[in-house]
Amino acid sequence: MSDSSSTLFDSAQDLPALHAMLEQVKMKNGWAKPTPSLYPVPKQNFVPAHWKFSDARPALHAAGRLVGTDKAERRNLIMANPIAGNDYATVASLVGAYQMVKAGEAARSHRHTPNAMRIILEGGPKAYTIVDGHSIPMMPGDILLTPNGSFHGHDNQTDDEAYWIDILDVPLVQFLGPMFFEVHPDSFQSSQQVSPNDSMRFVFEDYIQKLLNSSEIAEGVKTLLLGPPVLTTFDRTVVHLKAHAIWNLPASTPNQIWVVVKGEGKTKVNGQHFDWKAGDLMAIPYWNAFQHSASQDSILIRMSDAPLMQFLGWNRTGQGFSA
Ligand SMILES: [Fe+2]
Repeated sequence: MSDSSSTLFDSAQDLPALHAMLEQVKMKNGWAKPTPSLYPVPKQNFVPAHWKFSDARPALHAAGRLVGTDKAERRNLIMANPIAGNDYATVASLVGAYQMVKAGEAARSHRHTPNAMRIILEGGPKAYTIVDGHSIPMMPGDILLTPNGSFHGHDNQTDDEAYWIDILDVPLVQFLGPMFFEVHPDSFQSSQQVSPNDSMRFVFEDYIQKLLNSSEIAEGVKTLLLGPPVLTTFDRTVVHLKAHAIWNLPASTPNQIWVVVKGEGKTKVNGQHFDWKAGDLMAIPYWNAFQHSASQDSILIRMSDAPLMQFLGWNRTGQGFSA
């Protein structure tokens, strides 16, 4: 403690005076904080939300007229959680976005530290994501991973627009800081080979078969955790809901994004009802109990930061410490 500080603080006659003096040494008191740092259960800063592919598709089609090929890799729609001050994150750690690449178009290759995956909504055998020089076909229902540091670009050699949903851990990287991004030195990385069996691709028919062959975890509900390969920060679980199945899920700490691949149904969460169908996306932020019910046989995919919560020792369900 410096002599001047000793003199300063010794002269404090009351708390307001002490608080004013603390400002001079860039300190905050912990006894009269305006908001508590610790609280008994998670604060729900993000809200459950639902976005429809029937809105996103025509919006992206219009963007195809108005946003040039030079920005094709950014011709996307961001599902920003509708809370004050947020223009990006879908849930605390993850962002979901719809993207479209036009027929005959190629999007430049780049790489970044955030991990990414995509769920194909509309594509074809000649619509490719090029990952580290391998052309991976994008067929409807396929899931493709592009881990931290992999160069990736897109090349749509079909006659139709290709649509998909991207999920990335960008909000987490922004929060923690280790963001790096670069464009490929050739701008568009040419492909050395077509790799339909690439390890970074989960083929729709393959995972559906495994899912349907698995046992029910609740009446009319089957789940399959995909991988390896895995991404370090978030996982993917495919879910089959039989027509008329009702599935109740407890509040848990992982942040979740749900994407509907097939079918129709409803999700009840926090007093709201989301009527969903194929291509829709839902945000289920941490600590929300919810219920899915299917009106038809449905396939959904849940992305969650459970691997991260598990690693950190914070993966909790229900009552937190007492669970
Ligand atoms: Fe990317």
